[in-house]
Amino acid sequence: MNYSAQSISLEQAQESIILAIFEDNSLPLSAKKIDKKLNDQITDAIKNGEISGKLGQILILRNCTQRIILVGAGKQNEITERQYKQLIAKAIQIAKETIATTIINALTDIQIKDRDLYWNIRFAIETIEANEYIFDQFKSKKVEKNSNLSEIIFYVENNTEKAQQAIQHATAIALGVKMARDIANCPPNICNPVYLANQAKRLSQRVPLIKTKIVGEKEMAELGMGAYLAVSQGSENEAQLSIMEYRNHPNPNAKPIVLVGKGLTFDAGGISLKPAADMDEMKYDMCGAASIFGVMHAVAELKLPLNIIGVMAGCENLPDGKAYRPGDILTTMSGLTVEVLNTDAEGRLVLCDTLTYVERFEPEYVIDIATLTGACVVALGQHNSGLISPHDDLAHNIEQAAQQSSDKAWRLPLTEEYQEQLKSPFADLANLGGRWGGAITAGAFLSNFTKKYPWAHLDIAGTAWLQGANKGATGRPVSLLVQFLLNQVI
Ligand code: BES
Ligand code: MN
Ligand code: ZN
Repeated sequence: MNYSAQSISLEQAQESIILAIFEDNSLPLSAKKIDKKLNDQITDAIKNGEISGKLGQILILRNCTQRIILVGAGKQNEITERQYKQLIAKAIQIAKETIATTIINALTDIQIKDRDLYWNIRFAIETIEANEYIFDQFKSKKVEKNSNLSEIIFYVENNTEKAQQAIQHATAIALGVKMARDIANCPPNICNPVYLANQAKRLSQRVPLIKTKIVGEKEMAELGMGAYLAVSQGSENEAQLSIMEYRNHPNPNAKPIVLVGKGLTFDAGGISLKPAADMDEMKYDMCGAASIFGVMHAVAELKLPLNIIGVMAGCENLPDGKAYRPGDILTTMSGLTVEVLNTDAEGRLVLCDTLTYVERFEPEYVIDIATLTGACVVALGQHNSGLISPHDDLAHNIEQAAQQSSDKAWRLPLTEEYQEQLKSPFADLANLGGRWGGAITAGAFLSNFTKKYPWAHLDIAGTAWLQGANKGATGRPVSLLVQFLLNQVI
């Protein structure tokens, strides 16, 4: 879809128009203009009770080949982000069912609660693009495109600069989300650690600002990444750590922001095998890595003046004669030893060595993103990602970005008591923290490996993909992370 923001003369426009009607019956300026042009057709429709402005109502008026799609937007200033997104989705769906190729969207009149024009446009584009997404790469019959709509013009009175910025940010984020979803939805017989590395290499071929380095198992062994390698040892697919370095800070020596993504391209649980039901969903155990890829793409698109290093920790966790076992004691790259109590708690093992590896970049911050624990889904459900960090400033900045982008996250406590649960009689740490507070003990485990820099952890186990009728990757938390990075610049 093409997007633009224009302060055109609505009366003269030939294209179809989407207009908002509010519940108190006072028409916004744009609707007034069209009402006049159509000899009070809108006022008459309201008088006749055909539309009242109640949230979600729709009425289509015709004027030759032009269609006027009236949308009930409830009470001005009271519409929530969620309601607004649903409204946009509905209005665009209806526009798509008409013959229109271009549509003028005057829902820019809507003031979302506590939001300005920028967010009106940004949420609209992110919603529209998310709804356009189809994943039919592996269908022999492709989904047919049944709409001609290819251009949306956001109607703005003034403030076109802000609107343009919203379009630029939203399209870059939406494309990043799409890329993350594509990689995440890809089946595990194709999307393995080498596949992730190839994606990273291809990205650096297309984007000169990004340099990619791949660390394979041989180099991991030389580096002493004993925890990461143990997880991989039951798989025929080689583990690969993909490092995408984007350097565009005006000061080339500025410390980089490092983003680390868990990239378990399949997590069967290993010897502590998972139950069969829904095990296919463990192809999504690389959604952290996929989100990093999407973020790097968006960052390059926006040419953000920052140094950012995106790391995808690719690995596969399978049961095998060579697989690591419960009881094994591993030596991590940091030197700390870990007793394995459950081979299904593999994410923290892959991440702990990756978090030690990234020390070499002398990061300003490190944020890791991981589908780390089912316990996080139990704690927060599927709407908020779990945020864990010992650093209040960093945590607040992430919370703020989550709130702004509406890609929600909720902070969990990381007080010192949780470390007790990770004690092992035989090694420095156990990879399991017992029954309670599993999302937090996983974060507590990681915190032992992040002492050299400010660090935060996002557990996206509940938010990275949907189950049921709309099964598929969501592309979260690309929007949150890009917002966090945008906030570093503005
Ligand atoms: N990838 C899973 C976490 C997960 C499970 C995400 C279900 C989304 C849905 C992770 O590797 C895992 O298996 N975690 C275990 C940890 C436990 C053994 C301490 C879990 O959550 O059950
Ligand atoms: Mn697991
Ligand atoms: Zn896992």
